[in-house]
Amino acid sequence: MQPATAAMWAKQDQHEGDRWRLFGAVGAAIDATTVLYPDSYVDIAPSFVFESVTYVDVDKRTPRFFGGFVSEHCTRHLRVGGTLLVNPSHGDAALASIDDRYELAGVVISRDGDYRVSSKDLDAYLVPTKPQAISAEVLHRTRRGVAYTKPAFAYLFARVRSSAAATERLASSG
Ligand SMILES: C[S@@+](CC[C@H](N)C(=O)[O-])C[C@H]1O[C@@H](n2cnc3c(N)ncnc32)[C@H](O)[C@@H]1O
Repeated sequence: MQPATAAMWAKQDQHEGDRWRLFGAVGAAIDATTVLYPDSYVDIAPSFVFESVTYVDVDKRTPRFFGGFVSEHCTRHLRVGGTLLVNPSHGDAALASIDDRYELAGVVISRDGDYRVSSKDLDAYLVPTKPQAISAEVLHRTRRGVAYTKPAFAYLFARVRSSAAATERLASSG
């Protein structure tokens, strides 16, 4: 859990056990595995009881608590050989660019309202305008995209390795 997320949950969970007991009692009394929790804020206590919970809230802090990087969640569901489509605005493209499980496979170019996918001169893309160390830690902290010398509207990354293969590769290179 990210420190900011842990802090939000610790605050939410200050009446320790309250909500866990509430949802525990309800879960034992009804036959439900999938539930909807409108007005949830960051109260994730039902996830300790029900198999699948959909949280809904309009508070702008809520997506930050649940969301993280969308692309990271997608990686869990994407097979090797699959394609990740990301835009650069919140750092998803930068995160994929330093992830051994991905290789840049194409760029989406937007012109006059049309979109075109190109796989030409891919080495020219994802070059930062300023020399900087791009790390997952910095991207998680800032949640900002990286400015590139040759920007594209969006990027297509091919999933080329499983998580296990990427870890093994890192271990053998270090
Ligand atoms: C008092 S908090 C309750 C949070 C949590 N359910 C709990 O028990 O600790 C109410 C929440 O409802 C959310 N909310 C209010 N109106 C809403 C709406 N129309 N749609 C979604 N969320 C809403 C607010 O953003 C707020 O986070």
